[in-house]
Amino acid sequence: MSETWWRGAAIYQVYLRSFADGNGDGVGDLAGLRARLPYLSALGVNAIWLNPWYPSPLADGGYDVADYRDIDPVFGTLAEAEEFIAEAHGLNIRIIIDVVPNHSSTASAWFQEALRDPSVRDRFWFRDEPGEWQSIFGGPAWTQVPDGQWYLHLFDPGQPDLNWTNPEVHREFHDVLRFWYDRGVDGIRIDSAALLAKPDGLTGSYEDLDEVHDVYRSWRRITDEYDGRVLVGEVWLPDQERLARYLRSDELHTVFNFPFLACPWEPAGLRQVIEQTLATHAPLGAPPTWVLSNHDVARVVTRYGRADTSWDHADRRDGAPSDLELGYRRARAAALLAMALPGGVYIYQGEELGLPEVDDIPDELRQDPMWRRSNHTVKGRDGCRVPLPWSGDEPPFGFGTATPWLPQPDAWNKLTVEAQTADLGSMLNLYRDGLRIRAERLGDGTLTWLDLGPDVLAFTRESGLTCVVNLGADPVPLPAHGTVLLASGALDGDRLPSDTAAWLA
Ligand code: GLC
Repeated sequence: MSETWWRGAAIYQVYLRSFADGNGDGVGDLAGLRARLPYLSALGVNAIWLNPWYPSPLADGGYDVADYRDIDPVFGTLAEAEEFIAEAHGLNIRIIIDVVPNHSSTASAWFQEALRDPSVRDRFWFRDEPGEWQSIFGGPAWTQVPDGQWYLHLFDPGQPDLNWTNPEVHREFHDVLRFWYDRGVDGIRIDSAALLAKPDGLTGSYEDLDEVHDVYRSWRRITDEYDGRVLVGEVWLPDQERLARYLRSDELHTVFNFPFLACPWEPAGLRQVIEQTLATHAPLGAPPTWVLSNHDVARVVTRYGRADTSWDHADRRDGAPSDLELGYRRARAAALLAMALPGGVYIYQGEELGLPEVDDIPDELRQDPMWRRSNHTVKGRDGCRVPLPWSGDEPPFGFGTATPWLPQPDAWNKLTVEAQTADLGSMLNLYRDGLRIRAERLGDGTLTWLDLGPDVLAFTRESGLTCVVNLGADPVPLPAHGTVLLASGALDGDRLPSDTAAWLA
């Protein structure tokens, strides 16, 4: 297996609770995922990133980790996880897991100990008075414990922030990294990677302080002791220069490209994000990544069908009207764009099925702490986490045998893997074809822009493949070419219609 597999990898994000339910309890699990590994292999992905699979009271969908060295019983066992890693490797699929260093869980041994014994509170941020910060999920970021002290939680009260000035916290995570690398894990996705260091006095901005980089330098040293492992940062920073600091040669290998995800479906903006991304990555020798969606943002089909197609955490636009037909068309074109760009590409489960955001989950079934913490003003992220439709005409659509933990729309009968496999023009087959061609001709490298006018993004890769995306309202002539390898929609003779992409050779 190549040491630098991650430079051009297609990485599929598995939200385990919603992927496939193997034991019939309505919640996705390792048994379900293992049974569907052939699906992922046939799809053509090189790696899987799994959201947290650790024991958790689920204050935040598992991002409240009670034990970093075990698997939640709802998903399976540690032994099953090891078997899963070996099976995936047998199919030439690498495994990236989520590590959550900014905070742990109130159910963790450390926090329980701190509650019992105030002399061991220094692994967290306990104070006699609450500070001014607000939680990212809404409401105050400080919660009081029975003896009167307060602890900091940038997210849910179930997620106490760890104190990264305490060397014991550093040692603990070094050990956690080794624990999983020793079990064959190929990479670590670092949750909320820019938030770990806190300013003196716990006031002012806590984002992207210099001290976080020391943490990742030490993580890199450990990672480099193993072959072919990768560190991926979840760093939400609009400023590409700040983002690039995480990619220095002794820090992380890659970061998620959220400026690309947040960018509206608009040619000048996209061109600018792509150029900036390439310009900041090239001098560092780090491969960019291309990300259209994940478990925290509205599904891309829905986003691209809205009047405002940009993404903003501060204004999630939950329930904003969306022209799903238009969004679907654009999402197909965007998939070919993302897959053609130099570097790695992420695919969030269900993206390959063109699933829309589910806007009408009944309020009493909503699980996201954002919904609770915002006093029911922000619907939150459940709508992009609905269990996948695999087969059949009605829920649970082959997800499992029981009622899924979030309800699936009836209209998903047309979007099942089974239905889309049979339909040559489906989103699923577009992804399969795209990933197959990508493996031969795309991935890591560089691009050369072609000028086809202000509405068109067009570039050629080293292999000679040209990607053309028309973001304007009118069809545009295709540049001279031999064959059309793949197109996101029907061509109009030799012209590329609006919101359509084509790969030419
Ligand atoms: C990251 C995760 C998100 C989680 C948050 C707190 O942003 O992607 O799902 O809620 O961190 O852990």
